[in-house]
Amino acid sequence: MLSSHAPVNTLHYLRYLFGADNARSQTTEAERALLGHLAVGRKVIVELGVFEGVSSLVLRDAMDRDAELYCVDPFPVGALGFSVQMAISKKQINRSRNGRAHMVRMQSNEAVGGWTLPIDLLFMDGDHSFEGACRDFRDWGCFVRTGGLILVHTSHSSDVKSVPDNCGPKRLVEEVVAFDKSFRVDRYVDSITVVEKLR
Ligand SMILES: C[S@@+](CC[C@H](N)C(=O)[O-])C[C@H]1O[C@@H](n2cnc3c(N)ncnc32)[C@H](O)[C@@H]1O
Repeated sequence: MLSSHAPVNTLHYLRYLFGADNARSQTTEAERALLGHLAVGRKVIVELGVFEGVSSLVLRDAMDRDAELYCVDPFPVGALGFSVQMAISKKQINRSRNGRAHMVRMQSNEAVGGWTLPIDLLFMDGDHSFEGACRDFRDWGCFVRTGGLILVHTSHSSDVKSVPDNCGPKRLVEEVVAFDKSFRVDRYVDSITVVEKLR
């Protein structure tokens, strides 16, 4: 049975292919500027939660020429028998030829199982449940280098963007990160909290 979003998603995909729609994102302009700014000089960047690849493209464009970007998302199959979001994000991410980008079609908790590389920048924008956000922070955070950054999307309310108090990433920052001496909250930009790993 088709989901109620199927016609909208299909139309969006066709419109995207013909240049009538842009790829969609929940990020603000200031958040995208932050991603671009912080990607510079990082060699290994991981994004959890890709959707249509808007933030991935910003990261890829800005990172160093010898950097690697890993884009982790399960990209669930939709009504068309494939993932519209994966098809769009592939095209988005390949609009830049900078460095190397890898699509990792897995849940973040599956992908971390085989992970070995030290990470310079981790952008968390996947599982927004409290349990999922805590798990991603703990499991992926182990691989972030000392001095490396973890950007937690949808974790802070600002004039521009209101985030409900029960939102998982917000609770992660307020209930876990704030009390962990291995981390320091560096700043907030709209709904993103920038967290530095201290040790
Ligand atoms: C808010 S969107 C990401 C938006 C994207 N970062 C951007 O700024 O344009 C959330 C994405 O997370 C993905 N997602 C949900 N649970 C996930 C998980 N456990 N691991 C990885 N990705 C997940 C969803 O499939 C969805 O594409």
